[in-house]
Amino acid sequence: MAMPADAPTNSTIVADYRARTQASAALFERARHLFPSGITHDTRYLDPYPLYVQRAQGARKWCADGHDYVDYFGGHGALLLGHGHPAVVEAVQRQAAIGTHFGASHELEVRWAELVTRLVPCAQKVRFTSSGTEASHMVLRLARAFTGKLKIVRFTGHFHGWHDQVVAGAVSHYDGGVPVGVLPSIVDLSIVMPTDDVAPTVKLLEERDDIAAVIIEASGASWGQVPLPPGFIAVLREATARRGVLLILDEVITGFRWSPGGAQAALGVTPDLCILAKIVAGGLPGGAVAGRRDIMDLLDFAATRAGKREKVGHQGTYNANPLSAAAAVTALDIVATTDACARANATTARLRDAMRQVLVEEGVPWGVSGEASAFHIFPNPSGLKVDPASFEPLKYGFKVLKGARDGALIGKLRMALMNEGVDVMPSPGGLVSAVHDGRDIDHTAEALRRAVRALRAEREIRGL
Ligand SMILES: Cc1ncc(COP(=O)(O)O)c(C=O)c1O
Repeated sequence: MAMPADAPTNSTIVADYRARTQASAALFERARHLFPSGITHDTRYLDPYPLYVQRAQGARKWCADGHDYVDYFGGHGALLLGHGHPAVVEAVQRQAAIGTHFGASHELEVRWAELVTRLVPCAQKVRFTSSGTEASHMVLRLARAFTGKLKIVRFTGHFHGWHDQVVAGAVSHYDGGVPVGVLPSIVDLSIVMPTDDVAPTVKLLEERDDIAAVIIEASGASWGQVPLPPGFIAVLREATARRGVLLILDEVITGFRWSPGGAQAALGVTPDLCILAKIVAGGLPGGAVAGRRDIMDLLDFAATRAGKREKVGHQGTYNANPLSAAAAVTALDIVATTDACARANATTARLRDAMRQVLVEEGVPWGVSGEASAFHIFPNPSGLKVDPASFEPLKYGFKVLKGARDGALIGKLRMALMNEGVDVMPSPGGLVSAVHDGRDIDHTAEALRRAVRALRAEREIRGL
């Protein structure tokens, strides 16, 4: 069971967090009896208790005690346009009044798919789902049905949702073990490969004939926390095509963020299939599988009948529901017709520079990295020699970069930043919107300065 919110502490950072978030503590006191760990998503875990947020607008959100925060969760990455974009709010309100579920086909789902197929290079046809996890489940079923093969190649630390086929080696069990509750026979159908070098995967593809697909986070693990060596996906594209293996890009985060056409457009590499979620549904629940017509047609009644193939089944009460469709059509239209992606990317480049500069000025041997509108902080818990001015994550490898997520340091860093009005994800890092601005950058840099000073006072900064 979760710890009581008022357990004693000898940390000033934690004590300050508690002092300014008493309404959150009170809510957690109720929640911890209701939810395991008092939370509803593992990423929201924070010891002694998480922040409870009451409202949000633009780049900011306000906690239950009324303090405001520059928000870098961005709805777990769904809010490229920031919180409460007026056009999205208007579209959702209008739709709520005329119907949230018709149990029928409707115009907005058509417009939604028209936008996806226009923007995303591989998207000849689309099928909407209720989440990225569902899209990941569906895409693997399609890949196996299309190729008649069973094995899936994945990569260490690459996250494709929480269903049984993709959990081993994604957030734990990097040694090939079976996560509790998951069928060992399902884990056996994945081959989890490293990403420091593409050559072993190319060799694997050459040697085996039982592989249906390779699925990969287009950014590298955790939206680029562990980046891919340059050219990795292009080499995979070539090797999979040569061997008749499908290449699936997980664009749940990178879709409509790395560029309006996602990472595939930015990289100039077109996969056979991709999965989308988050931004694709305009900040409401939703996801999609998109890709080659001949593969997607395995979901098609007439095409499978004509081809004498068994049809792949797909249901889902909330697929393409009108509320998500209304938000999605509005948001994707803005992505397609404005510089929203480019603006978020430019702001984030400035933010990364500002944070890096703070680390240099404060003599903190940490790193800041990231691509597009993502940033990552490497808090160097094992005290390696790191120069913040020239930090290059590719040099450190998966174990070091991912290992930095463990331990109490991250929680303290997050609380130290929250005490200064900034909320980052526990990776630690964040996803930035098109409405974050220079004021948010200045505020964040100053918050980071004060946070690292507070952490230094508690002897939490190693490698000095
Ligand atoms: C790369 C990636 N794939 C898949 C998913 C699963 O999406 P969802 O949370 O909508 O199920 C996520 C969620 O964070 C993700 O980051």
